[in-house]
Amino acid sequence: MGKVFVTRRIPERGIELLQRSGVVSELRIYEEDRVIPRDELLASVAGVDAVLAILTERIDGAFLDAAGPQLKVVANMAVGYDNVDVAAATARGVIITNTPGVLTETTADLAFALILAACRRLSESEHYLRSGAWKFWSPTLLLGVDIHGQTLGLFGMGRIGQAVARRAKGFGMRILYCNRTRLDAAEEQALGVNYVDKATLLRESDIVSLHCPLTPETRGAFGLAEFRQMKPTAVFVNTTRGPVVKEAELAAALRDGVIFAAGLDVYENEPQIHPELLACTNTVLAPHIGSATQDTRGKMAAIAASNIVAVLKGEAPLNAVNPDVLAGR
Ligand code: GLV
Repeated sequence: MGKVFVTRRIPERGIELLQRSGVVSELRIYEEDRVIPRDELLASVAGVDAVLAILTERIDGAFLDAAGPQLKVVANMAVGYDNVDVAAATARGVIITNTPGVLTETTADLAFALILAACRRLSESEHYLRSGAWKFWSPTLLLGVDIHGQTLGLFGMGRIGQAVARRAKGFGMRILYCNRTRLDAAEEQALGVNYVDKATLLRESDIVSLHCPLTPETRGAFGLAEFRQMKPTAVFVNTTRGPVVKEAELAAALRDGVIFAAGLDVYENEPQIHPELLACTNTVLAPHIGSATQDTRGKMAAIAASNIVAVLKGEAPLNAVNPDVLAGR
């Protein structure tokens, strides 16, 4: 049995799972539809055994200490866990879990939606129409760039990168990728992808889409130097984490025509967006909705809750990102 704190209202499936588990002695939920203030968060987690957190919460040493030594697990309701100091958790014997797998296809759908929307200038088109500016059909109105038959460069080739590659295959695209580790030949062949270095990816791609996690190595990996290596007709898409990109430099590249357009779902300092980016009409912007479908968010909530239930039952959770803690038990 254990006490659980949930840092925000989440889809009901997750809450029901906790309530019906028979191992939750006390369930408290921060019900406000806003980010829980840090001091309130630290006070709320004191004495709990498990926390179901979302990516707006910073899970660091101070958080873990505020919870106390009885804390067993923090289940992050996201696949990315750059908001968590995993080493600090491991040092305190706290298991961290994430929600991989269930959001792969949904996030790849959004990445592809941004590719299509940015290449075909959909946001700009809609604003043009809604503003009443459209007076007649024109042979030169809102010309974009093609997607079919073009070269797609995937920076990062994990589950989501591969799901984007499968979609791109249907558009007859040539697909290049960079990754920390190369796929084996059979996987490359099945996906129809070619492994290249970053410079080749930037030089040859018509569309560059980011699918790497945010790590010390990928932080700031895309700035003006990279955009200058891309084609002036290139489209840049980011559905991973904002800090992989130097946002001010991306805004400058879009403003100055260094690249053609961008489709973005994530930002360096969410929810703040660089004002110059907001001013760029050649940019399609979404508010970090990569996994935001009813079904997928329900599954993510259920997985996060299941991970907590497993730990409270003394079982191994399905998705520990620091399984060494389990080994040490
Ligand atoms: C969302 O951004 C996630 O990492 O799941």
